Amino acid sequence: MDHVTSTYAKIAKQYAEEFSLATDSLDDFLGLLSPGSSILDMGCGPGVEIAHCKEKGFKVEGIDLSAEMVDLARHKNPEVKISLANILEFNTSQKYDSCIASYSLIHLPKKNLPEALSNIHSCLKKDGYLYVAVHEGQSNEGLYDEPFDPSLKIFLNIFTKEEISELLIKTGFRIVETKTRDAASSEEFSFRKLILFAQAI
Ligand SMILES: C[S@@+](CC[C@H](N)C(=O)[O-])C[C@H]1O[C@@H](n2cnc3c(N)ncnc32)[C@H](O)[C@@H]1O
Repeated sequence: MDHVTSTYAKIAKQYAEEFSLATDSLDDFLGLLSPGSSILDMGCGPGVEIAHCKEKGFKVEGIDLSAEMVDLARHKNPEVKISLANILEFNTSQKYDSCIASYSLIHLPKKNLPEALSNIHSCLKKDGYLYVAVHEGQSNEGLYDEPFDPSLKIFLNIFTKEEISELLIKTGFRIVETKTRDAASSEEFSFRKLILFAQAI
């Protein structure tokens, strides 16, 4: 996790400025949910999605591994519970109606994905919904140049659609919808983006 926290410590502010709009197809995902239901944003970054979901009337909480990201998210959402925590270690007795993992699983090694998804599953109520966004490409993992500052490296896990879908299904999810888009700017990694809506069964 070293390269993830140390790199986000340096680029958190730039990231927040560049990615100031809610993540891909978030409103489509919110359309699946009951009005006012609870959402846990896992790897919430600077809190843009938390603010968006709150504005739409949902009860939101968030966690993130980066202290700098947590500070930014709390500053943007002072009334929201946002914890410094690792998806891999997070446990709570609370069950949420839905979870968001927007471009956070991309920083976890492949060997940890079953554990991460099972942790996310255990945060959800039965039939709860999960939003996942990852980079799509030939399956790979390793250190990549960070687009904001190529002298910095960051660990990335690149998925095929089949790979992430199978992982989700093996963990007890059904896939509700899959969307893709091309990278939109030079500040983004150049991979295609893969967005999945899944449901805990
Ligand atoms: C690319 S940013 C995405 C931020 C936000 N979700 C978005 O869509 O813009 C990835 C975020 O995931 C967080 N992250 C990475 N690994 C994590 C982990 N194991 N547990 C919690 N957060 C993690 C990073 O600190 C960073 O804030």
